Amino acid sequence: MHGVVGENSLRLRAHGRVGKTLRGKWRLNKLLGCGGTGAVYEGAHRNGFRAAIKILHAHLVEHAESRARFAREARITNRLRHPSVLRFYDEDVDEEGVPFLVMELLRGENIESKLQREGSLAPLAALRIVEELLSVLEAAHARGILHRDIKPQNVFLTERDEVKILDFGLARHRQRSKGRQSETFLTAFVVGTPAYMAPEQLRGDFRAVDERTDLWATGALLYALLTRSWPERFDLVELARTGDRKLPPLGSLLPKAPPALLTLVDRALQSDPAMRWQDATAMRLALREAVRACKIAARPAPRRPLMVPALLAASLLGAGGALLYRRSIRPEMAPVPAGSITLSLQVSPGTALLLLDGKPLPGNPYHGQLPRDGREHEFRAECPGFAPKARILKAQSDMELDLQLEPLPPGDTFKQTEPGPGQAQR
Ligand SMILES: Nc1ncnc2c1ncn2[C@@H]1O[C@H](COP(=O)(O)OP(=O)(O)O)[C@@H](O)[C@H]1O
Ligand SMILES: [Mg+2]
Repeated sequence: MHGVVGENSLRLRAHGRVGKTLRGKWRLNKLLGCGGTGAVYEGAHRNGFRAAIKILHAHLVEHAESRARFAREARITNRLRHPSVLRFYDEDVDEEGVPFLVMELLRGENIESKLQREGSLAPLAALRIVEELLSVLEAAHARGILHRDIKPQNVFLTERDEVKILDFGLARHRQRSKGRQSETFLTAFVVGTPAYMAPEQLRGDFRAVDERTDLWATGALLYALLTRSWPERFDLVELARTGDRKLPPLGSLLPKAPPALLTLVDRALQSDPAMRWQDATAMRLALREAVRACKIAARPAPRRPLMVPALLAASLLGAGGALLYRRSIRPEMAPVPAGSITLSLQVSPGTALLLLDGKPLPGNPYHGQLPRDGREHEFRAECPGFAPKARILKAQSDMELDLQLEPLPPGDTFKQTEPGPGQAQR
């Protein structure tokens, strides 16, 4: 079984096949990668067509479940029809009866080798990859398909910077996996890698394995992308017993990360599935939030932060609207003077004029500081064609506002404040 076949000997054997031709038509030009199930080659058909060829590892050929799963990968993957998922063209067996699959050829590298070469990724780069993964998981989960083997080796970045999710080799229909728990556990254990398995999958509690198991692995992948420090080696028996990976909190490794990013990862990695993001859509929406927060945090600080004699609390003057009010947002771009609060304001549409106590602010989004004196300030946003909104905010703790203006009904107008040294507009 795979557990006793070393990675090096698999690679050596896989290399030995380079130059061979399968069924008199597919020449194996180059070894591209080697996973738990098979070796993947760049193949050239005798008619000149290029494709990737995945050949089942020799030690799995006699294993009926492995063969069945191998063939199933192509069918499950083709059913997804997602731009970030490969197309499989054919399945066959070579002269010696070893199954192989023919699929779309990708140029680029898997994320594991990118991490090894470049170290951790910048938050926005990591979030872009994970957003694509979540989009694939949304499509798969909607069809009742669980991936069950999300990890850096199974996510690919092409030369054109497209993200592709590989290896639905462990994927199963949710319902179908329920009747055959012990067998599924065994094969998942043998073929999958425990490093990225959620606690319920590690324990072999396959009744509990569901969509949220993939979301746990997605959180683990994101943690690994951001920190390059996911524990790959550990005492498996101890881990399965306690479920504790002794992970340093993400915030301790990335002290500048905005809370929305920390929440995204922390919630995905909860041991209890009920405490995690409940579906891929919810996690993707939280990820969008984290992207916004990271963009705000990455903006250079204004040279002379606006110091206004007082500001802001949670009482709302305007009606409705998407108001996000969070504490302790502290984008780390410039030293924040002691006794100040950090203020991050962003209003959609981006052309909206932002006013604080009637004075126009220099930009949208706006980022600056105010004295932490507990005083109230009026924040107002205006844009022609949109209903203005105002908020009273109290200068007690850091805050971030992300506000959306609603379009005015046709014929309705309002007078916009002149963007000059402004008077209060009340
Ligand atoms: N279509 C492809 N084009 C190029 N490289 C690929 C392709 N599919 C897989 N690879 C490479 O081969 C490695 C193993 O592929 P994978 O499908 O994950 O195999 P396994 O099921 O054995 O884990 C991947 O990490 C990737 O680097
Ligand atoms: Mg793989």
